[in-house]
Amino acid sequence: MAASRKRPAQAEAEIDASPGRYIARVSLATGHEIRGPIDPDELLVHAHRDRHPVEVAAQYVANQVVGLTGREAVVRRGLRAVNSLGRWIASGVSAASGSAAAGQRAKSLIGVVDRSFAFRFREPTHLGERQVRERVARLQREAARRLKERGRSPALRVLLTGATGFVGKEILSQAAGDRRIVEIVAVVRSETLRDPKTREVVKVLAPAERGALLLKRLGIKGSRARKFRFVAGDIEASGLGIAAAEQERLRRTLTHVVHCAASVSFDDPYETSFRANVVGCLNALRFSLSVQEAPGSAFVQHVAIETSYIHGRKKRFVAQESALVFPRHFYNNFYELTKAMASIETDRFLVERGLRVAQLLPSIVIGDAATGNNRGDTKVVNAPINAFGRAKEAVERASGDVLGMPKARAIAAVACVFPGDPTAEMNLVPVDRVAAGILAALTVPESIGVRIHLATDNRIRSEDMLRIIREELGVRVRLADPTLYRNLTMPLVKAVLERVGEPKLGAALERLSTIFGSYGEWGQPVHEVGNDVRLLGLALRRPDTRHAFRMLCRHNRFVQRYGQVRDADAVARREEVWAAALSDIEYATGRQVAAIPAGEFRELVAEAIDLKTFEPRGPRSKRGARP
Ligand SMILES: NC(=O)c1ccc[n+]([C@@H]2O[C@H](COP(=O)([O-])OP(=O)(O)OC[C@H]3O[C@@H](n4cnc5c(N)ncnc54)[C@H](OP(=O)(O)O)[C@@H]3O)[C@@H](O)[C@H]2O)c1
Repeated sequence: MAASRKRPAQAEAEIDASPGRYIARVSLATGHEIRGPIDPDELLVHAHRDRHPVEVAAQYVANQVVGLTGREAVVRRGLRAVNSLGRWIASGVSAASGSAAAGQRAKSLIGVVDRSFAFRFREPTHLGERQVRERVARLQREAARRLKERGRSPALRVLLTGATGFVGKEILSQAAGDRRIVEIVAVVRSETLRDPKTREVVKVLAPAERGALLLKRLGIKGSRARKFRFVAGDIEASGLGIAAAEQERLRRTLTHVVHCAASVSFDDPYETSFRANVVGCLNALRFSLSVQEAPGSAFVQHVAIETSYIHGRKKRFVAQESALVFPRHFYNNFYELTKAMASIETDRFLVERGLRVAQLLPSIVIGDAATGNNRGDTKVVNAPINAFGRAKEAVERASGDVLGMPKARAIAAVACVFPGDPTAEMNLVPVDRVAAGILAALTVPESIGVRIHLATDNRIRSEDMLRIIREELGVRVRLADPTLYRNLTMPLVKAVLERVGEPKLGAALERLSTIFGSYGEWGQPVHEVGNDVRLLGLALRRPDTRHAFRMLCRHNRFVQRYGQVRDADAVARREEVWAAALSDIEYATGRQVAAIPAGEFRELVAEAIDLKTFEPRGPRSKRGARP
């Protein structure tokens, strides 16, 4: 069954969705703002490349050199030098002919990229640095005093948005065992389930029903379940769409708001992303301020969940935790852009309106570090992994079919090519570390007024990911030069697939490479980390990304069957069996499962679990289970 949504009725006109509210176009010659509208599309990477054959060729050569030497900085300088040379030739043409127009024509002929302006984020406040520091220090002191007044068992009451999502479920799971928290009020909208084929409505699940199912699937029962309450709401509506009487009650009791809901879709149009991520964020901030300012309020602080990719494509510098600068190389998609806008709104509420708020910025979140369990998430990195796995299975299914086999093989060959540079680095962080960071922030007043990256310091390269995919999935994925792939290979592949009667596959491959390909290119930002350990007290040793990625592959292969096991109850049951089996294997072998080589691991799993039924083989006590 597929879920669908209706837009909430609300006065949207009150929020200006134009990028100019956050971003200014500034002349590089004068340093002054150039007034006029900004098209959201101008702020994305794709609007600024592939505009001229010479530029495409230069980028292709640059990719090859980075691949061979790994020296991104040198290649960047080289690209700039080539551009300057073009500009010099064009000005020569202009001088020789005595015509500026001839110079311009020469520029466009040789593909010179000439920018007369840049984008800058608007300052969130007119206050000076010292005044901001003093305000933040005062807000931190206020929160510390309020926490101290609550004593050693602070009995926290937390409103959470996004509880039904990937990160939200992990927050619920960890909160169930967190003795500091006595109540979690989750804001949930109803869910319309439709038949995937006919699109007919099969059932509408009310928020309370969704909540009950969620707790059951998370294995939260008895007295532990009593700390959770699910109230109807919608982040796109004012007051988060919570009924007035409930809002009144919450204003008297809440100590925290954790705003985690968002639209994490890399191909949503600007308006959709803006509504969910900026309007939703504003509604949450306004709601928290009303709780903070309510007479007799128990409010301590708001925790905003953002993303470390609000720094966009930043090729030259480390993305510092403290600073938000408009990325010189733009944003990959409207998700990143609108999350950055939401972060600026959050800064404004902090500084101008005195809301006690911390900003937590996870990088790319993947399943649990030890097991890969992700409670049915199929987004982001999961999507290409599952696509590769399914392509391989299609070939296996066709074996013995003389006519079908060559076609299946040909399709798998094109499906298992991914646009990316071998040296591109991804910042992956397991969901258990992210939720631990979010919950830790509740009792850390020093987190107020600070951006904290929940990211890793051991990023993974594309070439390592491909090696692990080969070992774990048995799929040989080839990297294709991203520039060539976009401009030549993909259009060709799409045309061929249309000719052999597979237009849907062609469209799906194109979508996959457009959405995720941009994260596989060299020149990804390096996210500074430190506040996660220094302020939140998380373990200094951040999860080993290679191990976590290996467990993601194993999980998606065996538990999720490459995204084909979709029923939430089935996912919950399988993940429980999986976690128990892995724990037993570790106990029996004395080794971390992620460190066990692929072949040996597969044998051990097949001994522990009947992979057809996904039932454990015999009682755990007989398998030498961890006592
Ligand atoms: N996943 C990542 O890799 C990643 C990385 C960095 C940062 N983050 C951030 O972490 C947070 C959680 O991400 P996630 O991966 O858990 O996302 P997710 O799995 O897509 O879940 C999104 C959650 O937001 C809720 N939501 C969306 N629109 C809503 C609305 N109008 N009213 C009420 N609820 C609404 C969804 O509710 P329904 O179930 O009703 O749809 C769901 O609970 C987001 O702020 C995201 O930006 C995620």
